[in-house]
Amino acid sequence: MVALDGPSGTGKSTVARKLADRLGAGYLDTGAMYRMVTLAALRAGTDPADADALAALAAGVELEIGSSPRQPEFRLGGADVAADIRGPEVTGAVSAVSAVPRVRELIVARQRRIIAEVVERVGGIVVEGRDIGTVVAPDAPLKVYLTASAEVRAARRNSQDTAAGRQSTVADARESVERRDRLDSSRAVSPLRAAEDAVPVDTSELSIDQVVVALCELASRRGLLA
Ligand code: DC
Repeated sequence: MVALDGPSGTGKSTVARKLADRLGAGYLDTGAMYRMVTLAALRAGTDPADADALAALAAGVELEIGSSPRQPEFRLGGADVAADIRGPEVTGAVSAVSAVPRVRELIVARQRRIIAEVVERVGGIVVEGRDIGTVVAPDAPLKVYLTASAEVRAARRNSQDTAAGRQSTVADARESVERRDRLDSSRAVSPLRAAEDAVPVDTSELSIDQVVVALCELASRRGLLA
């Protein structure tokens, strides 16, 4: 298993999927799970400040997440929500929802079950998120913490948004990236931080493929190559 943590805009999702593909492993996007709960809350009109209501919603939400790195699937109540969970409404509210301790407990328990099931079925998994190496899987044999300068991350987020047809400027993207970093790093439960034994990788000057090659080498040294 590989635990891949870090803030948004570091290339984490693309790197995680490519790495999983190379290793012949499964893939889990844990941020997408918080995004699906957030989308369900927005659709239900749940107050993002009402922790009890959010916890009740997270407990009952019909969320399905695929583990194929080439074709990850995200379903809410059976419907494909891959595009909806990346929209600005969800991105704006997800930090508040994911800061609710009871929501995290429920989602982390679910993540651990998925990880165990995928490891059993395909032999390995690359899991990306914010607290994988620190909380979800502290025993992961390889932990990586991706970073990049705020400038580079904003530029990447902006091109992703533009490519997906969402209105965005680099300045908007930077504000959104920095706001989310602040919220995710300062929350009381499982804040975004590198595990002590995580290998830090600064991706500011690296292409996605260069990062994947570096991580494949690390995985190989730890005996994780398929
Ligand atoms: O990786 P992402 O941008 O899709 O994550 C969305 C949000 O979910 C992020 O702002 C913080 C939260 N998150 C979290 O709290 N813990 C994780 N393991 C993954 C994401």
